[in-house]
Amino acid sequence: MMQTNDRVKIFPSLLAADFGNLSRSVGSLDATSADAVHCDVMDGRFVPNISFGPMVVKAVKPHTRLPLCCHLMIEQPENYIDEFVEAGAVEISVHAEACVHLHRVIQQIKAAGIHAGVALNPSTPLCMIENIISDLDMLLIMTVNPGFGGQRFIPEMLSKIAQARQLADEFNPELDIAVDGGIDASTAPSVVEVGANILIAGTAVFGHPDGVVAACSELRDVTARI
Ligand code: DX5
Ligand code: ZN
Repeated sequence: MMQTNDRVKIFPSLLAADFGNLSRSVGSLDATSADAVHCDVMDGRFVPNISFGPMVVKAVKPHTRLPLCCHLMIEQPENYIDEFVEAGAVEISVHAEACVHLHRVIQQIKAAGIHAGVALNPSTPLCMIENIISDLDMLLIMTVNPGFGGQRFIPEMLSKIAQARQLADEFNPELDIAVDGGIDASTAPSVVEVGANILIAGTAVFGHPDGVVAACSELRDVTARI
């Protein structure tokens, strides 16, 4: 039996799935070792791109046994929390840059009975969440600028991930640290090495030449001994 690293979780990102066959794409993840589905919501304002909203999250839900986590790259996310909860999200991450009252939004998500995360753009310092870190279930560190799949991993983010893990060890040891953008078999080992435990991957999973099952196994294999 192949050794795996129990700390590492894999969240394939729907953004790279076949949007013409979303139900089949999301359903194909059930045969993999993935832990959840990452749903990238974009409004064309916070980020230049527009993807999908709660209706699509709700529509894909019956087609997978995996939990759905929503990454809201939208302005004023507080206006849409209830809709995503109703659509079936088990976790919602909002961008610190999009929330004037970040603490309030985190409490709003938790009051709805689901997990709360905060996402930080590459240029946003960790001090943005320092005072609320104990309230978070997940910290999502963007390793590309949000808006598009298939971009190159920004290596300068490695020291930020390491600092985040130090902060978490001190104030919230249970905190999940997710990385998002340019994560594949070549970058995954380095991010896990410095303390990330959730690998969000779009292109590396749905664009893998050998399919989604092989893609997830590969991410597990390369991080197994870290
Ligand atoms: C980018 C999104 C990512 C995206 C990652 O704004 O937040 O989740 O799907 O795509 P890859 O893995 O292709 O870099
Ligand atoms: Zn994302």
